[in-house]
Amino acid sequence: VKPDLFKYRLGAKPIYQRLRDQIANGDYALGQAIPSSRALARELGVSRTTVTVAYEQLAAEGYVSVRQGSRPVIAVSFADQETRIENPTPPKSWHQNMSRYGRKLADLGDLPQPSPERLLVNFRYGEVDFRNFPAGLWRKAITAAISQRFDVLAYGQPQGSLTLRRALQKYLWRARSINCHIGQIFVVSGSQQGLDILSRILLDPESKFIIENPCYGMARLAFATNGATPIPIEVDEFGMVTSELGDHDARLAYVTPSHQYPLGGVLPVERRLELLEWSTKQDAWIIEDDYDSEFRYDVKPLPPLWAVADNDRVIYVGTVSKTLSPRMRIGYVIVPDTLIRVFEAAKQLADRHSSMLEQDALAELIESGGYERHIRRQRRVNQKRRERLIEAMEAQFGQLVKIEGTQAGLHVVAWFNDLPASSEERLIDRARELGVGIYSVRPLCNPPLSQNGKDRIGLVMGYGSIDEALINKGVRLLKKAYLDTKSAIE
Ligand SMILES: Cc1ncc(COP(=O)(O)O)c(C=O)c1O
Repeated sequence: VKPDLFKYRLGAKPIYQRLRDQIANGDYALGQAIPSSRALARELGVSRTTVTVAYEQLAAEGYVSVRQGSRPVIAVSFADQETRIENPTPPKSWHQNMSRYGRKLADLGDLPQPSPERLLVNFRYGEVDFRNFPAGLWRKAITAAISQRFDVLAYGQPQGSLTLRRALQKYLWRARSINCHIGQIFVVSGSQQGLDILSRILLDPESKFIIENPCYGMARLAFATNGATPIPIEVDEFGMVTSELGDHDARLAYVTPSHQYPLGGVLPVERRLELLEWSTKQDAWIIEDDYDSEFRYDVKPLPPLWAVADNDRVIYVGTVSKTLSPRMRIGYVIVPDTLIRVFEAAKQLADRHSSMLEQDALAELIESGGYERHIRRQRRVNQKRRERLIEAMEAQFGQLVKIEGTQAGLHVVAWFNDLPASSEERLIDRARELGVGIYSVRPLCNPPLSQNGKDRIGLVMGYGSIDEALINKGVRLLKKAYLDTKSAIE
């Protein structure tokens, strides 16, 4: 039987329906031109009359306006409407068709997503102030990168742009005393890709890994979703309590020694040495996530573990997500010589290499001195924001709240002394009603902190994207939310 190819020909009705749905979804802006009937007919392989009929129907219903001789334009506005696309959980019966990894992902439920919610003051961690982005410098750097001449446009090296790796090697030595050769540097799509690749090349489903508790959830998920088992080690105000490492036999330990995420401690030298000793004794890797070390305020910077380790077991991870923008997706991983080939192959199989244009632009920005000038400027801006936040919290709450983790980074942790943990949701909801976004440390704790006597309300308060006046306002509103919560529970 000959297949009936005409069956697949589009008629006017499906074209009309598809366009109407796209317009109603907000995929087009008001006034935006859509393709001419001739162009769309050519693309879809249908007659011009078919498209014209569809367009006339859309015009009759007011979705588009058509004028003789020009392209139809969208006549309604749905573009501001928030469209939430539901991702249905695959039914259990599908599980047999997925890998163990796929099944783990299916069981995870929804990962935390950036919410489009607009609040008056949002203390969400991880955001950078758009007004501080060095747009002029970046435009210049992109222009320089795009003006390079090549014989052909070919794939690059999985490690990343040579010019960027050269620039990073020098920058990391100046900024972080890191002495490495460029073969050890890999440019990745944000630290997250680095963690994902490391999880795949270092962990088996039956492996164990050491993780801080509380910890950076995206790291824990990257390692655990492969099937490996986390061994949580408690964190106090100085970071991981390394005396608890004991004889745990784990394949790797993931740590944030420069500024523990989320509690903010700076790991003291003795604990760093203890951690390094543990890794030598257990023959385990250490993944050092140095995600926000550019921002440190009243402490002398401690060199990263990478710079002091005399073993070949430390892997260093850095990012431009805090210094420039989390939307850029540029991070870097420095691996010991022993891991170069494996990491290279894994990166090549993941995505061949990260986008070269942005890498060359970043190289230009670093080599011009603009990157470090920008960081110095941002450090001053963020230092002021941090002071404003601490002062405002002290003025509003005094002894009612204890602020920790202030020495570095772009967030602090506020522990509430006289609200029971059970009122946390009420406090967060009330703050949100008043236009203030606050976020609990609780989802980052596994097992829950109550097990070590810390069952209090703790908030991770990011200040990297809020100007000083708004910080004051946000804290005043938070105080109101606190008072309302208190009177509601009494
Ligand atoms: C501990 C930690 N590591 C890394 C990152 C940044 O990740 P990426 O480079 O993938 O944007 C963050 C961002 O919030 C973080 O908190």
